Amino acid sequence: MALTPAAWWRTAAIYQIYVRSFADGDGDGIGDLAGLRRRLPYLRELGVDALWLTPWYVSPMADAGYDVADYRDIDPVFGTLAEAEELIADVHAHGLRIIIDLVPNHCSERHPWFREALAGGPARDRFWFLPGRGEHGELPPNDWRSYFGGPAWTPVGEGQWYLHMFAPQQPDLNWESAEVRAEFEDILRFWLDRGVDGFRVDVAHGLVKKDGLPDVGPDPDPADLPYQDRDGVHEIYRSWRRVADAYEGERVFVGEVWLPTPAQFARYLRPGELHSAFNFEFLVGAWEAGPVREVIAATLDTHAAVGAPPTWVLSNHDTIRHVTRYGRERTAFDMGDKRHGAPSDLELGVRRARAAALLTLALPGGVYVYQGDELGLAEVEDIPAELLQDPTWERSGHTDRGRDGCRVPLPWSGDQPPFGFSPPEAAAEPWLPQPAAWKGLTAEAQAADPRSMLALYRAGLALRRDLVAGLAQTLTWLEAGAGVLVFARPAGEAGAAGGFVCVVNFTAQAVPLPAHEEVLLASAPVVDGLLPAEAAAWLRR
Ligand code: GLC
Repeated sequence: MALTPAAWWRTAAIYQIYVRSFADGDGDGIGDLAGLRRRLPYLRELGVDALWLTPWYVSPMADAGYDVADYRDIDPVFGTLAEAEELIADVHAHGLRIIIDLVPNHCSERHPWFREALAGGPARDRFWFLPGRGEHGELPPNDWRSYFGGPAWTPVGEGQWYLHMFAPQQPDLNWESAEVRAEFEDILRFWLDRGVDGFRVDVAHGLVKKDGLPDVGPDPDPADLPYQDRDGVHEIYRSWRRVADAYEGERVFVGEVWLPTPAQFARYLRPGELHSAFNFEFLVGAWEAGPVREVIAATLDTHAAVGAPPTWVLSNHDTIRHVTRYGRERTAFDMGDKRHGAPSDLELGVRRARAAALLTLALPGGVYVYQGDELGLAEVEDIPAELLQDPTWERSGHTDRGRDGCRVPLPWSGDQPPFGFSPPEAAAEPWLPQPAAWKGLTAEAQAADPRSMLALYRAGLALRRDLVAGLAQTLTWLEAGAGVLVFARPAGEAGAAGGFVCVVNFTAQAVPLPAHEEVLLASAPVVDGLLPAEAAAWLRR
C-alpha cells in the first residue's frame, strides 16, 4: 500500500496504541511490540492512517512508562530496540505511519542524570533542586501542587528539595539547561534516523517555568500559572521543528497542550512550531447540540488563524471512556472530576458514541481514535482497589481511582479473559482484569456483525479516506431544528465528491433528514427518511 505524500498529517486518522494494553505477544499479561506487530493487519483493515504509541522506553513504570530512564532504548517488558526498528519497518509496509511519545518535561528518578544529581554538584542543574523554606529548609520551596495530588516537591536531605509536577518518581527537567536542550535534539534525531514519522509531545505546555519559581498563591489566574505556558517554551518547539524539517518526508509534532484559552493553545501551532495538538476542549465538552456546535466553530476559528489543522478526539488513556461519559447525566468532563461511579446508561452512551464517531470522522482536519473506541468499550469502573496501578490512586489518598479504567487490555477474541489479548498458552493474567461482559465486544465478534461499532468505524474510516478527507477543509452550517446539527463540506480542489452532508440528532426523538440523494452511512437505521434519536448520518445531496 502506498503512503500518501505531503501534509498527510492535516487530515490523518491516527489510532492511539496504549502499548501495555493493546496486544501481548510473549504471554506475560502485558502488551508489547511483538503483540502489536501481529495485529498490524487489524489496524490496516480498520482504515487508519497512522499510529501513536504511548511510551515504549526503558522505565521503572511508576507512571506506566511516562517516567523514562533511557530515551534511546525499549523497556524489556515491551521488547528490544531491534524489534522497535522492525516494527517501524512493518508499520510502513502496512501503509501506516508511526508517531512515538516523547516525554520532555520530566524523566524517571532512575535516569542516570537524576542519580548523578542526587549525589550533588552541577549535575543538579539539569533539574530543579532548591533549598526549602523554614528555618532548616523543612518546608517546600514554593506552594506548587503535583497534578497527581500532594506537593510538587520532595526533600533529598540537607534542606534541599526537587521539583516534580507529576509523581515524585518523575523529576522535572530544567529547560534552562543547555545540556537538556541538546540532549533532546539528539533524542529526536535518534528516532528520526530510525524512521519514525513524528512525536506526540507529552505535557507540551509545561517545560518552561517562570523565573524564580514564584508561589501560585491562593487565587491563581488559570491563564497565568508559573509552571505552564511560559513564553520561552515556544523557542524549544521552533528548534525542534528545525531538526525535524531537515528530514525527508513530513515528520510531525503533535502537542499535548492542556490550556484554558484557545488563544494560548493556538500559539503552539504557529508556523514553525508544532504541527497540531489534541483538541481537549472538544473532548471535555458536553454532548449537546449547542455546546458541540460552539466548540466546533471555535476550534475552526482558532486553527484557521494560525493555519494549523484542527483535530478531534473523544477519549484517550487519561480520560474516562466516552461511552461511559455520554451515558451520564452530566456528559461534560473535567480532569479534576471524581472519576468513578456516577451512574451511566451505557446503552445510551453507545448510541451517542456511534453518533460521535460519525461526527468526528466528518469534520475537517485530523481525528484520533483511542484503542477500544472502535469496539465501543466503556470505562471499567469495578477494578478491585488492590489491583489499581495508576499513581493517582495512592497520591490522592484513595479518593481518585485514577485512569486504569480506560487502560484495560483489549478483548480480541474468544469468550473468556484474556479474550485473545495474550497467546492461548500464556500463564499470566492481563495486567488489569477484563470484564466478563466483554465477551460480546471482542474484535472477532464485532468483525462478524455488520451492526457493530467496529463495522461502523471501518465503514466510516473507509469513506473518510476515499471521500471526506479530500473535501475542502471547511464546513458550512445548514438550517436545522432544535437539538440537531447539520453541516456540509464543500468539494475540494479535486472537485470530485461534492454535496457531502453530516447530520447529528442530539434529541430523544427521530427527526426527518434534509433532502438528499443517498444515505452514505448512518449510526442507526434510517427508516422512511427519519434519523433515529441520538444518531448521526452522512448524506450525499
Ligand atoms: C501526560 C500523559 C499522562 C502522564 C503525564 C505525565 O498527561 O498523557 O498519561 O501521566 O503526562 O507524563
